[in-house]
Amino acid sequence: MSREKFYITTPIYYPSDDLHIGHAYCSVAADTMAKYKRLRGYDVFFLTGTDEHGQKIEEVARERGLEPQEFVDRMVVKIKDLWKLMHVDYDGFIRTTDPKHVKAVQDIFVRLHENGDIYEGVYEGWYCTPCESFWTESQLVDGMCPDCGRPVEKTREKSYFFRLSKYEDRLRELFSEHSDFVEPVSRAHEMINNFLEVGLEDLAVSRSNFSWGIPLPFDEESIAYVWVDALSNYISALGYPFDPELFDRYWPADVHLVGKEIMRFHSLIWPAILMALDLPLPKKVFGHGWLLFEGGKMSKSKGNVVDPTILVERYGLDALRYFLLREFPFGSDGNYSTEALIKRSNSDLSNDLGNLLSRVVAMIKQSFPEGFPAEKDFAEIDAELTALADETVTKVERHFEKMEFSLVLESIWRLISQSNKYIDLTTPWILAKEEKSRSRLAAVLYTLADVLRRVAVWLSPFMVDTPAKMREQLGISAAGSETDAELSSWESAAESGLYRDDFIVQKGQAIFPRIDLEAEMKALEKLD
Ligand code: MSP
Repeated sequence: MSREKFYITTPIYYPSDDLHIGHAYCSVAADTMAKYKRLRGYDVFFLTGTDEHGQKIEEVARERGLEPQEFVDRMVVKIKDLWKLMHVDYDGFIRTTDPKHVKAVQDIFVRLHENGDIYEGVYEGWYCTPCESFWTESQLVDGMCPDCGRPVEKTREKSYFFRLSKYEDRLRELFSEHSDFVEPVSRAHEMINNFLEVGLEDLAVSRSNFSWGIPLPFDEESIAYVWVDALSNYISALGYPFDPELFDRYWPADVHLVGKEIMRFHSLIWPAILMALDLPLPKKVFGHGWLLFEGGKMSKSKGNVVDPTILVERYGLDALRYFLLREFPFGSDGNYSTEALIKRSNSDLSNDLGNLLSRVVAMIKQSFPEGFPAEKDFAEIDAELTALADETVTKVERHFEKMEFSLVLESIWRLISQSNKYIDLTTPWILAKEEKSRSRLAAVLYTLADVLRRVAVWLSPFMVDTPAKMREQLGISAAGSETDAELSSWESAAESGLYRDDFIVQKGQAIFPRIDLEAEMKALEKLD
């Protein structure tokens, strides 16, 4: 039986500057979802890439005295390095300067032109270069770009137009028949109220006053508008239209993950283009919130603290990935601060999880260094903790399916705190003093080891090294690679009692060393 497929994408990033923690946020979320689906046995394709054409890239490259191609080639190396460092383990990386993408975009334009969905005209209006967006006078907010608030330029140029207005009714149907097409639902309402209700105008889809873009085959003086070029990546990366093997296997996308400001492009313009091409529509567009930095949207000018490489170096990848997905509910904006990251790492990771593991391993090592005895005297309280772990499976899966990452982690941490409380209630250090309590002690420590085994699996989509470190200390990996693989599987975490009596725990280093908050804040001031 063939496996169910799952195709997830991130936006393709502008390589105009180094990426910051706000960009990493989206990629870590997509990667976590891809890892989760792989664990669930799906045939996953996770796509990311870079959006390399357009006026902004051309301008930045020239400012640095480079040809645009040379400039983007250099930037892409850095972006790929960052994803490697952060274990953003994509299956495909598309660059809009890839020849296969260029050819696909040209083919798309020819199809749209031939079927009458593109016509020639003159564009007169406003243009926001940082957002690469056209705006009409009435859409501007106080004369500025409604998306980013920056100044816009008056533009008049020959342009081809896409008949977006023709697809308005079908888009309305899409939104009304598929209430989960856009999530969170508040973003669907924004699209309906701000655009569909107001009415859609035809969209300028070519530029002619600069040259860094894909030339249109039917008019070599015009280049494709960068957003149509960019959106096409989701199908060109799968080989559309010339080598459709991957396309047939993975399209339509199960989810396009995007930041809220580019929702309009993904949930209105992109579906309309697909309708014009007679292709199936993506199943979902999920618009996540922004990480704000001291009240404003992040940018590189805010300094080192937003550089993900520095954050990984100082606090570790797993703490950073955990923080990003635990601290901010995924659909909403959140205020980023390094102080909050350190506090989370100290409280949730060093205290709750790290201490639980080290206490349990130390107590088992002390009382059962050769493994657990067969006789265990289980009590009601053990069954309660195990029952909570069983309930956690359902919660984790339910929240994952809705991409509610913070709630997935919250449910796992409820179990972790309960396990810490369970230690206080069962007082294993007292049981350890008396030989007659030995089978009761074995039951308590076994229950804890078995919960930790399951927690390690649930954490594995989020964290890269921690689950393996936990299995090592719990003595699971030393039992052989087959056992290790078996007990790393998602299914194994749904079952209780798979921890084995003959596993020999091994004391190890603290998995999340405590960070001295005050000293670190001082060190950071010097760094900026
Ligand atoms: N190139 C376009 C996307 C084309 S997709 C067909 C683009 N690039 S971008 O580099 O400006 O942004 C890429 C993504 O990063 C967007 O989804 C954007 O929302 C996200 N983020 C940029 N800054 C962010 C934060 N501060 N916080 C969260 N996400 C942020 O748009």
